[in-house]
Amino acid sequence: MGYKDVYAAWKADPEAFWLEQARAIDWDEAPTQALFDRGDHIYEWFADARVNTCWNAVDRHVEAGRGEQTAIIWDSPVTRTKRHISYAELRNRVAALAGALRAKGIEKGDRVIIYMPMVPEAIEAMLACARLGAIHSVVFGGFAAHELAVRIDDARPKAIIAASCGLEPTRVVHYKPLLDGAIEQAAHKPDFCVLFQREQAAAELTPGRDFDWHAFQQGTEPADCVPVEGNHPAYILYTSGTTGAPKGVVRPTAGHLVALNWSMKNIYGVDPGEVFWAASDVGWVVGHSYICYAPLIHGNTTVVFEGKPVGTPDAGTFWRVIAEHKVASFFTAPTAFRAVKRDDPKGELIKDHDLSHLRAIYLAGERADPDTIEWMQDKTGKPIYDHWWQTETGWTIAGNPVGIEPMPVKIGSPTVAMPGYDVKILGEDGHPLPAGELGAIAILLPLPPGTLPTLWNAPERFRKSYLSHFPGYYETGDAGMMDEDGYLWIMARTDDVINVAGHRLSTGGMEEVLASHPDVAECAVIGVRDDLKGQLPMGFVCLSKGVNRPHEEIAAECVALVRDRIGPVAAFKLCAVVDRLPKTRSGKILRRTMAAIADGEDFKMPATIDDPAILDEIRGAVQGMGYAR
Ligand code: COA
Ligand code: AMP
Repeated sequence: MGYKDVYAAWKADPEAFWLEQARAIDWDEAPTQALFDRGDHIYEWFADARVNTCWNAVDRHVEAGRGEQTAIIWDSPVTRTKRHISYAELRNRVAALAGALRAKGIEKGDRVIIYMPMVPEAIEAMLACARLGAIHSVVFGGFAAHELAVRIDDARPKAIIAASCGLEPTRVVHYKPLLDGAIEQAAHKPDFCVLFQREQAAAELTPGRDFDWHAFQQGTEPADCVPVEGNHPAYILYTSGTTGAPKGVVRPTAGHLVALNWSMKNIYGVDPGEVFWAASDVGWVVGHSYICYAPLIHGNTTVVFEGKPVGTPDAGTFWRVIAEHKVASFFTAPTAFRAVKRDDPKGELIKDHDLSHLRAIYLAGERADPDTIEWMQDKTGKPIYDHWWQTETGWTIAGNPVGIEPMPVKIGSPTVAMPGYDVKILGEDGHPLPAGELGAIAILLPLPPGTLPTLWNAPERFRKSYLSHFPGYYETGDAGMMDEDGYLWIMARTDDVINVAGHRLSTGGMEEVLASHPDVAECAVIGVRDDLKGQLPMGFVCLSKGVNRPHEEIAAECVALVRDRIGPVAAFKLCAVVDRLPKTRSGKILRRTMAAIADGEDFKMPATIDDPAILDEIRGAVQGMGYAR
């Protein structure tokens, strides 16, 4: 069957389609039904099944006689270390860790925050939670203590598992002070913390609260897998919304297993036993789905890479890892390849490596610009597949279904909707638009298995953010169009979310931080185009009356404040003081017009603008930041 047939078969009977895919999972109690309609546009998949994620990702492969196969390859150029962990070893390590967590009181449904860099222990911590039915929430290492504190207060974890440090190319990131700061700021306090000590910088443990990763496993019994209900949350992953309060995306256990397992062959084209590499971070959804869960559930070998595309040690690192570990399918964000291309424009470093095992490269996380795709195609000779999805969905909405039938690539389009997703382009009035017209991208409900059923602690926010604008649809927050061949084209976000180096950030969140500066009366943050990172945040602040300190000083304080409150990952380095912000007569800040000015784009003067002269000041401020195009 070709793509069109498979898609049509899914559409004709979605429940039969997903029940068929569910046969690839080892159930403790198989689902008797696929979809559960909870009313009012809320749906759940496989809710009456009982299953364990860790069993499916680890133990079942050992039981099937594949215990000696490598499950995880850890390749860490920043520590000059490589390690192979077999499925049998992984099972033993995860069972031991889970046993120690259980001995300290962690049970099904308890939350556990994981704050760790790209070490295999991060994956083991995730799997140990899954083994017990505990709900993990991984926090990216580039977030500051305040962001961790916000997540602690929302998830209310019984335990936090952290490493002593992370390693950025130019500095050691000490996690313990961040962890202590976060626990101090948070109203909720975890019962205990587990610290994985790294030799690059050990942390001093807080007596009574902190336990050493190895020591606390001594004398405890390994834990078996605890079956959970199909709709039990496997994890919570916080992602940026319009405000500073992150959204806790809930991932349901059974749908997650079924959808991710399906995606490995049908989208990424790999068979069990082959090596799959997603160069991302466990703190992001790509890391959850395609470093940890999907490759392991599907019986692949996954690569955990602790390094950067450039500088660790050079732009040939990707090619070295692909060749050395015989990677069959590789996935990263376009920004990573822009960095490689910038350092090695002729692709000289590719020639040193044998890429014969590599069949395709996948890009997601931000718009894949045609220049980068063409460069990659030209230099590697491999197919480059863009695919579009979000933290909320956990797997591809639109991609190239190579395991079913490779579709012709149209550069700039992530290709076609996957089975499970009925994607529509809607006008402001909520009616579907014809092919070729630009509108809001929405998905007809129900969403497929694996996607979010709600937001943690925030069912109303879930409705308001995703279901209320276009009744009967899930609103993706992206705008774009579909062409005559059913190919999707993703153009821009419709909200205040920006994408910096493949990292999803909220300009609203940054504005909240700037507004807390004592001298700032008003502010706006916009996303401006950047050749390397795709977008960069740029801030404009107006000062309170009577403040007459040097503007550069205040702008520098604003930059430091965002780094301190949100973290280095915000990459907030551009900030200017201006007299006024351009607004409509009703007082709405014209952020889109400001972004057009910063990007040097033509724009239509908004009819409702209060005072067009302010735009000249904005243009001047952009030039002052050295950013005029
Ligand atoms: N822990 C602590 N700090 C981190 C961090 C982490 N895990 N990850 C990034 N940071 C810091 C960086 O050190 C940098 O700090 P600096 O301001 O002191 O230089 C800052 O956060 C911004 O990081 P980043 O945006 O990643 O920029 P970079 O200049 O370090 O690297 C790229 C640029 C393009 C090479 C890099 O962004 C990259 O590899 N991106 C891959 C994208 C990706 O994996 N996306 C995930 C979705 S698929
Ligand atoms: P995240 O939740 O961090 O994965 O970010 C999801 C958002 O990133 C999407 O809503 C899009 O705005 C953007 N995005 C992800 N993949 C793509 C892609 N292939 N093309 C264009 N935008 C993308």
